[in-house]
Amino acid sequence: MPVPLFLGLDIGTSSLKALIATAEGTPVAHASVEYPLSTPRPEWSEQDPDNWVRAAHVATRAAIAAAVRLGHADAARRIAGIGFSGQMHGATFVDRTNTPLRPCILWNDARSADECERLDRDIGRETIVARTGNRMLAGFTAPKVRWVQRHEPAVWSATDCILLPKDYVRLKLGSVRATDAADASGTLYFDVARRVWSMDMLRDLEINASQVPACHESPDPVDRLSQSAAALMGLTAGIPLMAGAGDQAANAIGSGIIAPGAVAASLGTSGVIFAASDSFRASPDGALHAFCHALRGRWHLMSVMLSAAGCMRWYLDTLARDANARANAEGVSVYELLDRDAAAIEPGCEGLRFVPTLSGERCPIPNPHARGGFHGISMAHTQAHFTRAVMEGVAAGMGLCMGLIREAGILPPEVIASGGGFESPLWTAMHANAFGIPVRKAETPDSAALGAAILAAIGTEHRGEFQESSRANTEIAPAIEPTQFHIWKDLMAEQKVLQRIAL
Ligand code: XUL
Repeated sequence: MPVPLFLGLDIGTSSLKALIATAEGTPVAHASVEYPLSTPRPEWSEQDPDNWVRAAHVATRAAIAAAVRLGHADAARRIAGIGFSGQMHGATFVDRTNTPLRPCILWNDARSADECERLDRDIGRETIVARTGNRMLAGFTAPKVRWVQRHEPAVWSATDCILLPKDYVRLKLGSVRATDAADASGTLYFDVARRVWSMDMLRDLEINASQVPACHESPDPVDRLSQSAAALMGLTAGIPLMAGAGDQAANAIGSGIIAPGAVAASLGTSGVIFAASDSFRASPDGALHAFCHALRGRWHLMSVMLSAAGCMRWYLDTLARDANARANAEGVSVYELLDRDAAAIEPGCEGLRFVPTLSGERCPIPNPHARGGFHGISMAHTQAHFTRAVMEGVAAGMGLCMGLIREAGILPPEVIASGGGFESPLWTAMHANAFGIPVRKAETPDSAALGAAILAAIGTEHRGEFQESSRANTEIAPAIEPTQFHIWKDLMAEQKVLQRIAL
């Protein structure tokens, strides 16, 4: 019997990542395909769901081709299960034929801020936290459904089902509407403590129970790859498709963050601190997200910054548009160039500060309308100061998010880091300083796709449910120790004040 392989598909905000791994969680090959994000109005953020599906076809074929190049000639035939991970909270409204009725409204879309206020008033803030474990935040699914009910009644009356992003992709690769407890946690119509839909919230939101998909646990096989999708992906029809998980829970599985008290940080478009737990607990004011983990009987607390590495993307697209050309001329990647520029500047950027709340904010201070900015600019500041200030501002914001986790009584000895932003050694060192504890990098930055593949291995019974992630992924990387306590204490204190002003 050939050794089975597992495919993890992570439907991110900027790209879809396909990763092939063994049951032990060792990555074999990967590929990614980018797609656009549209901002038709300030504070809106949308994507065409069919772009994700096309990307899943193309990225899978590319990952298989990469595996073949690396000597796994029979990789396509060895895929024994497909797992899913995806950006959370996105509302994909489909009709009876599973056709999207409008672009998906994403997790970082703030149009529903007024609906949040109304729902808080109508249902009651404390009732919402008691029913769901979480507070009403723009970007979560419930207020977006309410927005569509009020502003696009024709879309709402044709809506047969509301799907989360990865659930739409899985549906298009098979035929079954389904979701999982980890991803459903971010809808605000899910009872996180009991891991079932909240009938009270569905009733108050005027959502019919038939308009939400059946909810499973993340490793459960829920469907099989269709003939037509298999042909487009270069795979065999009939491969089991797992329920999968929201990207943060999948990322934690890929980084080995399963045991109670283990903490992960991820630096993608958003920035997240994730703490695993073996029982449900919510912060009474909902300051932290309290969600189901991707394994039965496990939950997690999480603090989320809406723009983390997303700030660097914005900076490259606006103020540092020359960086790509400079990097090309020097034969280095643009991120290496930015690291080198920033490393030449003293910590603290000679007083220049950056507030990273470019897309509104959830943590540490929730405000969908928060704006970011630079502060303390002088004639002495160069572009390299601005580069470093962006990095420091994001790391300081992540440090404040870690503060919320500590306030909940979780005191991690170290943090496992994943996501593209931690590919920068300088940015990683800044985070170690901001957290005040060592940071150890997960071996693959695509931990969410790896987690999805691991969920597929669990669901097909090629791996035990509570087996920690592969040692290879988490334990060989050296710890990056914090070294600049005093400077960073001051930077974080200032960031706290500036974020209040940004309100
Ligand atoms: C989590 C969250 C983001 C998205 C996009 O609550 O909103 O992390 O999942 O990555």
